[in-house]
Amino acid sequence: PKVHYYDFVLRDSNFTRLCSTKSMLTVNESFPGPTIRVRKGDTAIVNVHNYGRYGVTIHWHGVKQPRNPWYDGPENITQCAIRPGHNFTYVVFFTVEEGTLWWHAHSDWTRATVHGPIVILPALGTTYPFPQPYEEHTIVLGSWFKGDVMSIISEAMYTGGRPNSSDAHTINGQPGDLYPCSNQTTYRLKVKPGKTYLLRIVNAVMDVEIFFGIANHNLTVVGQDGSYLKPVTTDYISTTSGQTFDVLVTTNQDPSLYYMIASPLFDGQYTPFDNSTSTAILEYEGDYTPPSTPVFQFLPGCNDTDAAVSFSKRLRSLASKEYPIDVPKNITTTMLITTDMNHIPCPNKSCAAHGDRLASSLNNFSFVTRPIDILQAYTRNLSDIYTTDFPDAPYVIYDFTGGKGNASEYTTPGTRVKMLNYGEQVEMVFQGTTIVGPESHPMHLHGYSFYVVGLGYWNFDYGSDPVSFNLIDPPKVNTIMVPAKGWVAIRFVADNPGAWLMHCHLARHLIWGMSTVLIVKNGPSNDTSIRPRPSYMPSCSSS
Ligand code: C2O
Ligand code: CU
Repeated sequence: PKVHYYDFVLRDSNFTRLCSTKSMLTVNESFPGPTIRVRKGDTAIVNVHNYGRYGVTIHWHGVKQPRNPWYDGPENITQCAIRPGHNFTYVVFFTVEEGTLWWHAHSDWTRATVHGPIVILPALGTTYPFPQPYEEHTIVLGSWFKGDVMSIISEAMYTGGRPNSSDAHTINGQPGDLYPCSNQTTYRLKVKPGKTYLLRIVNAVMDVEIFFGIANHNLTVVGQDGSYLKPVTTDYISTTSGQTFDVLVTTNQDPSLYYMIASPLFDGQYTPFDNSTSTAILEYEGDYTPPSTPVFQFLPGCNDTDAAVSFSKRLRSLASKEYPIDVPKNITTTMLITTDMNHIPCPNKSCAAHGDRLASSLNNFSFVTRPIDILQAYTRNLSDIYTTDFPDAPYVIYDFTGGKGNASEYTTPGTRVKMLNYGEQVEMVFQGTTIVGPESHPMHLHGYSFYVVGLGYWNFDYGSDPVSFNLIDPPKVNTIMVPAKGWVAIRFVADNPGAWLMHCHLARHLIWGMSTVLIVKNGPSNDTSIRPRPSYMPSCSSS
């Protein structure tokens, strides 16, 4: 195994998209940011230098970081921010995952511009469970905001309005031909006919799910979130914020230009979404006259939750001798967690006219971060930072998908965490609700990948639904879309001690409080315990 060294220099620099220029925070002046490329078993040492205007942290999305929560990244959960003018060195162990993951900033909305792919190749001497592709390319789906992302947050927190979902989506940093002032810089992938390419697709989008396809070409999905899958052939994939997919594409069509298409699924009911589509171009090399516009193909519409759910239901782990799985079967902790949209009284006078702003919650609690990280508070036994009463189920059981019943539309703010003993076998059911309105939520857990054993519409039924759980070959992921008016059941073993954030990966729901923290206690021995706290963690005082 190798150790790889990276320098991430964060600074504001100018970027031009959609006919206007703005200054934004990036890593090494690139958008998307640089790729981390390792083999399974390697370690990356990433020195982050912050020359920007805000405190920032970096998270290694989907990397388990066994016993290593100090380097996980979420601000005020496992560390305090790296302040402007300071640096911090992350140590990232790639011991478990193989495939594609990504890294992103984890402070407010800085991840909109501070993110990049992580490619984890098979360990030396081993190969893919599919034929070696001719070439590999990363495809990063992103969001572009004309304005400054930090001011969009204040809008979301203090004015009572709903923030913009983005002014464009991007493919490898570019909005594509269908947006103004964009067609000179559309991302082009040049391919040779008759070859198979591996596309490593990262959904780094802020606030919606994305359908992705390539006109006239099949996609064969072979991996998701750093685990391999049984190959699934499809003409589009559905990806939610935070997910990554490994997809094979064979260039078996007539030499021409074909659009790669990214179009949003947005099933919230609050504001109609601007259903614009981002494009890139798959360009066959060779002697032919290119058409004046590339071949286009429509993907499912922006309210087609069914298309997303039926894609997700087709995915299965390899579950083979070489790639075994270990789904927990003797569950010791069961949680039913509602994923809610709520209201909360508006915090300042400027929105008194509205009275309330939107909020988000789990089990009707909106998580509030504290000025010191939860991990430090836990390991140092500091009191008054958090409480351990995050409930295992909502206080009122009602018809979750039938309205708000006797549940309050108002959420309760607090810093409630869930304690777990080392080695517990956990089952969680995420239940969508319609307190304010139905909406899909990509739930993401730090420090773990989990098995998705069930997925369905309407209210989860403890009697009948577990009967059809897949305990044979469920996919192992770190992010799963809980469909609007539906539920998802997951299982994992709590074998990674630490304080791990669990949250909706939509940026606006995260700042509105749709998260909690799982504190997993140490196991019986040193190698089942949290590593010592590095002495050079960023300071939590603002002076
Ligand atoms: Cu991409 Cu808290 O995560
Ligand atoms: Cu959400």
